[in-house]
Amino acid sequence: MSKKILLSGVKPTGLLHVGNYFGAIKQFVDFQDEYETIIFIADLHAITTVQDKDLLSKQIYDIAVDYMACGLDPEKALIFKQSDIPEVSELAWYFNCITTVPYLERAHAYKDAEAKGREVNMGVFDYPILMAADILIQDADVVPVGKDQKQHIEYARDTAEKFNRVFNTDIFKLPKEMIVESLAVVPGIDGQKMSKSYGNVIPLFAEHDEVKSLVMRIPTDSKGVDEEKNPEDMVLYQIHKIFNGSEELFNSYKKGLSYKEAKEKLIEDILAFSEPFRKRRAELHGNRDYVLDVLKKGGERAKARVEAKMEKVRNAVGVKLY
Ligand code: ADP
Ligand code: TRP
Repeated sequence: MSKKILLSGVKPTGLLHVGNYFGAIKQFVDFQDEYETIIFIADLHAITTVQDKDLLSKQIYDIAVDYMACGLDPEKALIFKQSDIPEVSELAWYFNCITTVPYLERAHAYKDAEAKGREVNMGVFDYPILMAADILIQDADVVPVGKDQKQHIEYARDTAEKFNRVFNTDIFKLPKEMIVESLAVVPGIDGQKMSKSYGNVIPLFAEHDEVKSLVMRIPTDSKGVDEEKNPEDMVLYQIHKIFNGSEELFNSYKKGLSYKEAKEKLIEDILAFSEPFRKRRAELHGNRDYVLDVLKKGGERAKARVEAKMEKVRNAVGVKLY
């Protein structure tokens, strides 16, 4: 039996953080043997916010390095950048023509931007449709993401159904999100969801001094060492358990461990965890020819994969005359 298809992507909008890794990238790596794995760099999506040529190019390169530093193996997973498949944008157009404005107005990301009084560009408004095209064009079965992206996968599913219905075909498969419940929302150092936009992240590749100063900022209460506490209520433990889920740690947080000691142990656990990642990243980063070759070849393969499907799509829509 052929393997099911796992597909996902991350926008090249800056440094990866611990939430990106545990919420999404860890799943890409853990499942790359079990699934046919397709992982891309969502550079077109990034243009909704990154409008600086050199910065975007740099960040695309960095994410390619970061993916591999996290353990994605280009021999197993297909790695490429979204913009290398222009057909994704073409498909998004067909989808746009069957999507209503009120439907997109219900998207959380758009509603949040509106509520904050931000000027919303068309890219932000249409974001879910481009994402649906990413997913559906590759026949993805499962899409590993953090919880904040769940609605976007629902949009992809709805869009597949609508296209199939409107054009009377069965071209598109209905994808499912893959969300690991315990890692669905990784908290940041202030206890809110860890996110670049909240300025509460622990960068995945951070070195000792940065990790230390971030961990020191995690709030704690004034309970004494021997007072009984519920670790699950503490931001410090909520973050720590991601790196160390042992019962021993849980019990020591409950009673007997001072916040100072807990923070020291957390710093140690984060750095021990990220050390191999930082090492691989340093090795890969200077190996520009190799990294670009992986991306370029990945782009060619990814594009070849979609050709037959796009011919069917053009035929279903009625624009294919020869
Ligand atoms: P950010 O919110 O920092 O801008 P992105 O939107 O670039 O992060 O997210 C990239 C991937 O990482 C997505 O699949 C997203 O769901 C996941 N992710 C981001 N933050 C978290 C988090 N705090 N917990 C779990 N998953 C997350
Ligand atoms: N929206 C995703 C994010 O913010 C990135 C993304 C774009 C994506 N296209 C996708 C994720 C397709 C999964 C599948 O992180």
